[in-house]
Amino acid sequence: MSLRLLAPLAAFVVPTTAIGYGIVIPRSCIAGVNALTIGFATTLLGACVTYLAGVRAARRPPRAFRRPAFIARQSSRPTGLVGRILGAIMARETGAANRAAVRALAVAPNDRVLEVGYGHGRTVELLADAAPGVVVDGVDRSHDMVRAARRRVRRLVAEGRAFLRAGDSARLPHPDGWFDKALAVHTLYFWEVPEAHLRELRRVLAPRGALVLGFTERTDAVAAAFPAETYRFYSADEVGALLRKAGFSDVSLEHAAGIVIARAT
Ligand SMILES: C[S@@+](CC[C@H](N)C(=O)[O-])C[C@H]1O[C@@H](n2cnc3c(N)ncnc32)[C@H](O)[C@@H]1O
Repeated sequence: MSLRLLAPLAAFVVPTTAIGYGIVIPRSCIAGVNALTIGFATTLLGACVTYLAGVRAARRPPRAFRRPAFIARQSSRPTGLVGRILGAIMARETGAANRAAVRALAVAPNDRVLEVGYGHGRTVELLADAAPGVVVDGVDRSHDMVRAARRRVRRLVAEGRAFLRAGDSARLPHPDGWFDKALAVHTLYFWEVPEAHLRELRRVLAPRGALVLGFTERTDAVAAAFPAETYRFYSADEVGALLRKAGFSDVSLEHAAGIVIARAT
């Protein structure tokens, strides 16, 4: 506790004590200590304790805001009205990260592209417009997101350029080698056994097909801000190792737009 912090307390206590004990109490006292003296001393003591507690609290480093478990569960599988609102917020919040991931995917004309965990569906539009003749298939495990995303990209669906379905990336309904490219942004955290999902993605990709994963890297601050029951974070190197274990041979990792972008073929 520095002198600078004690100055406001002294500025309050010294004149109040002088006025209280020098003028107010002597004029109202009949004999020495009376109820007014005790009341006055107690108030002064209370003010000092409150002030010191306030200073202590203010000097403590702020605790990271932890997302409530309910919101975290919604992010992992958005449902109902809350899920739709969260989806709309996410579409704005994750825009830059998704644009960077789509750039890294290097979509070519006539590519068949898979997006896992498309949520709001905004990135489906980006992928479909990335090159001429591109067809996008999407898999998301939330039925409410399927409906919301289908509404958003109804023009692409009507033109046969986007097919959005409900499903889980642990078991994809597509034949082996079907896709040229695959993308999953902010979805890895929710896979209980990530190797199984990555192996499944490898299976549906053509032999030279590319997968891009976009994810927030684990740091102490990130781990403290998200409930561990729902979110599992990894370092960039851990994800690189998982991709190789799942059968990808060429893996590159870069940081862009606040996330790690892992590209694997
Ligand atoms: C946090 S949101 C991310 C949405 C979007 N990719 C973005 O970056 O804004 C995660 C989405 O992935 C979906 N999801 C999570 N695990 C999945 C899985 N195993 N298979 C398919 N979809 C999954 C959720 O339903 C949710 O819509």
